[in-house]
Formats: sequence, C-alpha cells, structure tokens
Amino acid sequence: MKILVTGGLGFIGSHTVVELQNKGYDVVIIDNCSNSSPDVLNRIQSITGKEPVFEQFDLREKNKVQDFFKRHDDIIGVIHFAASKAVGESVEKPLLYYENNLSTLVYILQQLENKTSASFIFSSSCTVYGQADELPITENAPVKIAESPYGNTKQIGEEIIRDTCKISPNLKAIALRYFNPTGAHPSAEIGELPIGVPQNLIPFITQTAIGLREQLSVFGDDYPTSDGTCIRDYIHVVDLAKAHVVALQRLIEDKNTTNYEVFNVGTGTGSTVLEVIQSFEKVSGQKLNYKIVGRREGDITAAYADTTKANTELGWKANNNLDDSLSSAWKWEQKVRG
Ligand code: UD1
Repeated sequence: MKILVTGGLGFIGSHTVVELQNKGYDVVIIDNCSNSSPDVLNRIQSITGKEPVFEQFDLREKNKVQDFFKRHDDIIGVIHFAASKAVGESVEKPLLYYENNLSTLVYILQQLENKTSASFIFSSSCTVYGQADELPITENAPVKIAESPYGNTKQIGEEIIRDTCKISPNLKAIALRYFNPTGAHPSAEIGELPIGVPQNLIPFITQTAIGLREQLSVFGDDYPTSDGTCIRDYIHVVDLAKAHVVALQRLIEDKNTTNYEVFNVGTGTGSTVLEVIQSFEKVSGQKLNYKIVGRREGDITAAYADTTKANTELGWKANNNLDDSLSSAWKWEQKVRG
C-alpha cells in the first residue's frame, strides 16, 4: 500500500516514515528540503533497512503536484506535513505562510477529491484552541481567534479539509492536533534539527547543555501555575508518529464514523518549564544554565490534552513520559554535535 508523506524528511515526517515502513507501507516522500536534508533518507534506511522513494520539489508548483499524482496513481493515502511553522516569521511574512501552508493543501486535495477512495492525515496543532477555558483540553473546546498567521493556517487548513470532505464522500480525513512534539528516535539517527537559534524550549535546552547557547531564558515566572512558569504537554515524537499510522489505518479500514474527524495528540500530562528543566537535569546529569526573564508575547499560560478520544477511538496512547522524551532529545543532540 503506497502512502505519500509530504515533508517526510522533516522532524515529525521522518519519524512517521519509519513507523509506516515498520508496518509494511511503501512510502513516497515529497520534500523541498527548505528545512531538512536529503541525508535523512540514509538515516531512515539505516533504521528500517528500506530507503523510501524521494522526489524533491516544492508543492506550490501546482503542475508538478498534478504530474506527481498522474505518475503515482496507486497512492491510497497522504500524510501532509509539509508546511512552514515558525510563529514569529509568520507574523513578518503572512502571505508566505498562507501560500506555503494553504495553496499546497488545496493542490493536494484537488488530486484526492476525485479518487474512488483516498485517506488524508493533516498536521494540525493545539494552537487552534488558544488559551482554552477548561483543562485538560478536549476536541470539543472552541477554536479561538488565531494569535498568528501560522496558527491561522492550521485553523483554515482544517476548514478547507472539512468543507472538501462534505462534498467528497470518497475522501476520508483526520486532522491531528499536536501538543508539543519533542524527543528523537531511540537510535539517535533522526531527530529535530532547527535552523539557527531554536525558538522552541527543548532544542534550546539541549543546545545550551551542549554548549552551543550560553543560557536558556525562561519566559516568565509570574503565570498562575504551581511555580509561575507556563504549562505544556510534551509528546514524544515516536508516539506522535505512531498516532499517524493508527489514524491512517482507521481511514483505510473504514472504521471512522464520519469522513472528517479531529483528534488531540498529547500525553495528557502538563509540565511547567521549571519541571522540564529539572527532568532534563536528572536524565542528562547536566546542570543547565538558565535565568528567568520576562514573558514572551503571545504565550498562553497552560495547555495539555484530554486524550480520551484518541485512546478510545484510535486505540492509541503515548508510551513515553517527559523523562523519556528529554533523554532521547539529549542523546540525539550529543550524537549530532559529536
Ligand atoms: C510554539 C508555538 C506554537 C507551535 C509550537 C510548535 C509560539 C508562541 N507558539 O508553542 O504555535 O505550534 O511551538 O512546537 O511560538 N520557553 C522558554 N524559553 C525558550 C523557549 C520556550 O521559557 O527559550 C517556554 C515558553 O514560554 C513556553 C514553553 O517554553 O512556556 C514551550 O515553548 P515552545 O517550545 O516555544 O512551544 P509553545 O510556545 O507551546
């Protein structure tokens, strides 16, 4: 069974390709390598023993997308990761984000809507909930006005898929709303490789510990939480990758109840920034240099998932806890810089 993974050389994409191959799927990757490297193909192969088919092009080139689907008319499912994801950059360059994240989505759905059967998994984000009124966050929590063009592309992306599914009964889709993906494959062959200064907490921590960054700034300790720092739900990337595979299987086996569904993908446990630092120091044996600074604009106080729906309907749950995620992220950082 042939599956297209767009953005399959990226952080979450590459881990998902590994899990798909482990389950016997044939994988074709499209990636423009704007935030990834073709090297990842060899690394995937060293884990699974199988090199995925790879085509390097930009999904904004509509004619190339059309041509690709003509050549691969046996594709039965698409997992669509390819997108830009830097919140700050999206504020500076909104049209780049709308073009990159939404026109590409439309081009792919246009290829799928007329197929006799197609399954589609979309990378969405818990950012669609903003600061939710109730915690943990269920899928029924209202979608809030987006804080950034990036967040808006995830909301609009979900709407585009929902509207397309309404008129295309042969198209089945699931949007997975990720909480905070982190960690790396236990082999340390693949992991997160941010370009430039990391914006996210965990890569900043591991880069500080390895000596690439001087000091971690903890953004605010005056939030209404146990220790004053923000709470997030850090999900191990291998667990997240496996969620894609079970979601795809649900669509292929026609176990879905409607042809468009959304699922939260998190651990269900929230951790403060200081708890993350403590856990990192414990699993790595490193003392982390950090200081408390002012709040970061746009940060919400707390977000963690109610995972009941994914547990019961997908039969999926996270197997790794925060310590596991941080120790794999640290192993990866040491290998990459070693
Ligand atoms: C961020 C994005 C979110 C995106 C997600 C992808 C923002 C405002 N939100 O989420 O839209 O979907 O990444 O992974 O950028 N922190 C520090 N010091 C740092 C970095 C982070 O204290 O150097 C804190 C933050 O204040 C936050 C927590 O660590 O409380 C997690 O931050 P981050 O990893 O950036 O994730 P989110 O803000 O949850």
